[in-house]
Amino acid sequence: MKFLSIVVYIIVQILFIPFAIIGVFLILIKQFTVSRYLKISSTAVDNVSVRWAMDIFDIKEDKTSTQLFKHLPNASLIGHWMVMYPTYLRYKISNKYNGFFSSKDSGKEFFGNPITNRTIYFDKYITNHQDTAKQLVILGAGFDTRCYGKLSGGCPNLYEIDLPNTQKIKIKTLEKAKIDSSNVNFVTADLRKSDWSTKLKEKGFNPSLKSVFLLEGITVYLNEENVLEILNKICEIASKDSVVLVDFYSTKFVNFSRLPKKSEGYKFGLDLRDSNNFEEFINKTNLKLKNHNYLGQHNNNGPFMVTAELVVE
Ligand SMILES: C[S@@+](CC[C@H](N)C(=O)[O-])C[C@H]1O[C@@H](n2cnc3c(N)ncnc32)[C@H](O)[C@@H]1O
Repeated sequence: MKFLSIVVYIIVQILFIPFAIIGVFLILIKQFTVSRYLKISSTAVDNVSVRWAMDIFDIKEDKTSTQLFKHLPNASLIGHWMVMYPTYLRYKISNKYNGFFSSKDSGKEFFGNPITNRTIYFDKYITNHQDTAKQLVILGAGFDTRCYGKLSGGCPNLYEIDLPNTQKIKIKTLEKAKIDSSNVNFVTADLRKSDWSTKLKEKGFNPSLKSVFLLEGITVYLNEENVLEILNKICEIASKDSVVLVDFYSTKFVNFSRLPKKSEGYKFGLDLRDSNNFEEFINKTNLKLKNHNYLGQHNNNGPFMVTAELVVE
């Protein structure tokens, strides 16, 4: 099967070269031109596109992300299929996938695709609190679908915070995709401004209930001062035992990125070559480190990201 899958893959991939070129073009037009036109996040599409890939390659079943992705105005499902179809066919024949979107062993994660493993780590952290947490708050939610699937199971109170345009398009797309969002409270707020917590409470957030706060793929777009303010604000408004799930990129990764530093460009990272730096940063808050994973720590270039489960003391 392995040999057959390679032969089929080579033939189909050659035939698909023109489609792959058109596919890349469609993806880029949708992701950048349409996002700019609608004034919505283009980076949030990256995340949902990886979750679509995780779904089709059976890395994580995620039909909701796939459904949302299909209807997003700034994503091209056709474009993605044009690029991925030969690889998908190879996977279906061989039943093995070890490509760009695959998950890697702990410590060996691939910096070119931080999203697959990060998603898996956060899912695991969320699961740790599923039976006890009563509120799930997703900060910089983008096109995340955890509020609409199994992971929201134990949480009767769900909140998503994002900037106005991205959130508006998400709500419209959820409707189009027929994904029930009636249990989700949408909080329109800029996390760089201190009023996000007031807006959260206005939507029904209860400070006395155990909550999970998820900040996935967001600290890198803020600056250090913003990040510390957000983490300290959470400590102020959340009950003891509440949990903060967050990731930080390495400064090396941030500086390597060719994205412009303005708008959605990478801004904040930690020097992860020395683990003291991460712990010292956490010590500036009232959060206690419970669990963490250094992504890529066993690779030659060292860790490019750390994901963490922190507890409000
Ligand atoms: C890379 S996406 C991550 C989305 C989501 N957390 C995920 O993992 O799928 C970053 C998200 O943060 C949002 N965001 C960026 N800056 C923000 C800010 N200052 N206030 C609120 N949301 C912000 C963007 O609109 C975007 O939806």
